[in-house]
Amino acid sequence: MSMFFSHKIMFIGGKGGVGKSTTASAITQLLSEDNKKVLLVSTDPAHNIGDIFHVRPKDTALSINTYLHLLEINPQSESKRYIEEVKTNLKGLVKATMVEEVHRQIDLASASPGADEAALFDKITSIVLEEYGSYDHIIFDTAPTGHTIRLLTLPELMNVWISGLLEKRRKVQQNYSQLLNDGEPVDDPIFDKLQERKQKFVKVRDILLDHKKTGYAFVLNAERLPILETEKAISMLEKHDMNVSTVFVNKVIPDHADGVFMENRRKNELPYLEQIKDIFRKQEIIKTPLFEHDISTKEHLKKYADTLISTHSFLNS
Ligand SMILES: Nc1ncnc2c1ncn2[C@@H]1O[C@H](COP(=O)(O)OP(=O)(O)OP(=O)(O)O)[C@@H](O)[C@H]1O
Ligand SMILES: [Mg+2]
Repeated sequence: MSMFFSHKIMFIGGKGGVGKSTTASAITQLLSEDNKKVLLVSTDPAHNIGDIFHVRPKDTALSINTYLHLLEINPQSESKRYIEEVKTNLKGLVKATMVEEVHRQIDLASASPGADEAALFDKITSIVLEEYGSYDHIIFDTAPTGHTIRLLTLPELMNVWISGLLEKRRKVQQNYSQLLNDGEPVDDPIFDKLQERKQKFVKVRDILLDHKKTGYAFVLNAERLPILETEKAISMLEKHDMNVSTVFVNKVIPDHADGVFMENRRKNELPYLEQIKDIFRKQEIIKTPLFEHDISTKEHLKKYADTLISTHSFLNS
């Protein structure tokens, strides 16, 4: 079996339509059949893990059986919930006359680029921290590449941002205490809240950067653009010291596909497969065949999952 499957937390990324959800679902299926308790989380607004398992997941875990659990995060409602939470947290912390202005500022911020990602990241953080002990594996099926990368590099950014805020807050507090309290510290609930958030991010960052605990994998197809995009994405994650251990090459033309057309496709594919071997030297490369049909039933998923663990899967072994 792939070393990727041993991680407690797994993130599956890749370009649109390459087979992220299918691969994430197949890994979930394999591990759950091995009596591992698995939570598969979809963070993609265009969810399809429900279609694969023929159920309707929600934003709380839905049990398919003792071992297999599904959850879908809706970034938009998550964003709304997050904003409401921020407003509630500020209640009682700002002067009544300021409330309206503060809410206006928050609403403005919530419409800015990155707000949905921040909310989504907040939800991922909560799942990782709160569910860590309840499952053997938590697998995240993510949205297409660009989005995912921004999301995964957020803990670093968040940390810098919150540290900045904390520093500012500390100065304000110093001024206050000199002014009001003869230099004695005054209670500052905002400072405490920020501190709390910072601790949460530090905790999740430690898990996401721990190579033993968290693995990142990309799914791609043997084509020019997915290769380029994946190469870029991996180098970016590696810069943040994230452990991209595995690359899944999906929809590889199988040996038994015959006819002139398929023969030509195979010839076309070959240099890309060579290129993949060459570029992703540090990663384990697992290839899965193109099927004649979509992976849309339990039987298909089982067949697909079997190819993930077959000895022919490993392109670089
Ligand atoms: N090996 C395969 N052979 C045939 N069809 C496949 C294979 N892998 C995936 N598919 C089909 O390709 C389509 C896209 O797969 P999937 O939904 O897993 O991709 P995705 O990367 O999650 O897409 P999105 O970016 O939209 O989330 C689906 O219809 C799926 O059934
Ligand atoms: Mg998908």
